[in-house]
Amino acid sequence: MTKEKRNRAWYGKQDRDGFIHRSWMKNQGFPDHAFDGRPIIGICNTWSELTPCNSGLRDLAEGVKRGVWEAGGFPVEFPVMSLGETQMKPTAMLFRNLLAMDVEESIRAYGIDGVVLLGGCDKTTPGQLMGAASVDLPTIVVSSGPMLNGKFKGKDIGSGTDVWKFSEAVRAGDMTLKDFMNAESGMSRSKGVCMTMGTASTMASVVEAMGMSLPTNAALPAVDARRMALSHMTGKRIVEMVEEDLKLSQVMTRAAFENAILANAAVGGSTNAVIHLLAIAGRVGIDLSLDDFEIGTDIPLLVNCMPSGKYLMEDFCYAGGMPVVLSELKDKLRPAKTVLGGDIMAYADGAECYNDDVIRPFDNPLKPAAGLRVLRGNLAPNGAIVKPSAATEALLEHEGEAYVFENIEDMKANIDREDLPVTADTILVLKGCGPKGYPGMPEVGNMPIPAKLVKEGVRDMVRVSDARMSGTAFGTVVLHVSPEANAGGNLALVKTGDRVRLSASKGALDLLVSDAVLAERRAAWQPDAPHYTRGYAKMYVDTVLQADKGADLDFLVGKDTRPVTRESH
Ligand code: FES
Ligand code: MG
Repeated sequence: MTKEKRNRAWYGKQDRDGFIHRSWMKNQGFPDHAFDGRPIIGICNTWSELTPCNSGLRDLAEGVKRGVWEAGGFPVEFPVMSLGETQMKPTAMLFRNLLAMDVEESIRAYGIDGVVLLGGCDKTTPGQLMGAASVDLPTIVVSSGPMLNGKFKGKDIGSGTDVWKFSEAVRAGDMTLKDFMNAESGMSRSKGVCMTMGTASTMASVVEAMGMSLPTNAALPAVDARRMALSHMTGKRIVEMVEEDLKLSQVMTRAAFENAILANAAVGGSTNAVIHLLAIAGRVGIDLSLDDFEIGTDIPLLVNCMPSGKYLMEDFCYAGGMPVVLSELKDKLRPAKTVLGGDIMAYADGAECYNDDVIRPFDNPLKPAAGLRVLRGNLAPNGAIVKPSAATEALLEHEGEAYVFENIEDMKANIDREDLPVTADTILVLKGCGPKGYPGMPEVGNMPIPAKLVKEGVRDMVRVSDARMSGTAFGTVVLHVSPEANAGGNLALVKTGDRVRLSASKGALDLLVSDAVLAERRAAWQPDAPHYTRGYAKMYVDTVLQADKGADLDFLVGKDTRPVTRESH
């Protein structure tokens, strides 16, 4: 195809502007022919030492560059904000939309024709896809890849999942503090993202199922040489995509989002995928809603990885990875175009399962119905979710008395009080942890079991909040209650002693308090004073959408693909 490249509006000009764009780039030693009209490929890198999960991306960028040069393109790497899930306070989620703005404006402002997104840690993949979707150039994702299996005392341990287990074991007196500290080094022993099916590997799996990466991208360990080769092949392919003018929006179609939902169920993926997929869909212009996630409800759990199962991403890779999952889902997946130009089912061609305990066949799953359940009721009029594959079956149908924590400080100060008036049947309710409330909707929804109950052997309880939870976490945890407490949702009106009823099978979450009493409480309700009064965080709180809409900023929804015509000088 001979469509004039986008980059010509920068580098194809014979005037003063063209001189300026080219000359300054040449200070890096790029020859004349780099500007001869060949595809210019941006490599959008979230490498950072403060995002340890993405610390391998410098190497992978070199791999992409090799492929771009080989295919006759010109690669240019640029940094964007990086979001270190385990390092940022109050939560990396507060900044996902800021990363998306950085990515969007960088892609739009520079003279590039296509883009390779290098991300991995939880918020980096969705943040990059949201930004890229709002410009809509040809786009491919290369993920960091998971860390090697964690090891402790000769056994496999999983990122996140075992942190939650170990910290509860310490509280119950079943693990020494010394062992707890020693487990740190063995848990994270190579570059890469969490090697459980946490949010990072969930998003990488979902991206592969959407056809937005090359096949096998999700599971290859970060340090596996084949990931470098995959980066190289991605570099080659993005050059072809520019020539074919195959844009992100032609791959990220409604069918691709539906495939993402199906795949998320089959891999036992993170609840966070819900929020991220809703936000990305909003950018592309696809009207995806919480109810669309119901198509995954009856999909069986096939991937036996923590937190829903027992293995880790390295095992998933050696068992065959996502191509095998796609092959098992062949009767369910929607036809959808991939970055390779063909249909998603081509990713399953030749897929062979090498360990059917790690990746179960469709007719012998780990659990029969793994998809997330969407809950509604007067406690969550706009929806909430629960992840049955990570929950205690018996608690998924439960009615009990609420014990309410008004905010995170209240919870931390009181959860371990010996005289806390709770039993194993109590429903713990946490407020003030939604997008506006915290702000940023942190992963605190899986609040700890009260110490006095831990000692009695209680390991799970129904917990309800407007927060998210880590993709590595487990428990009967109702999340993303919308509207959140700080937006005036009924969650704000719950009082200790109220009865709450959860029915995952009916998709219901109800506060058993009369409308009249709720109206009285609402009249007396006052929102908290905002935590931030300036800067990005203020803009975030003022404009963030609720969880059921993906928690994007309201003015960022949609895209703008118009060319930038004004020059800088
Ligand atoms: Fe970065 Fe888990 S904390 S991927
Ligand atoms: Mg996380």
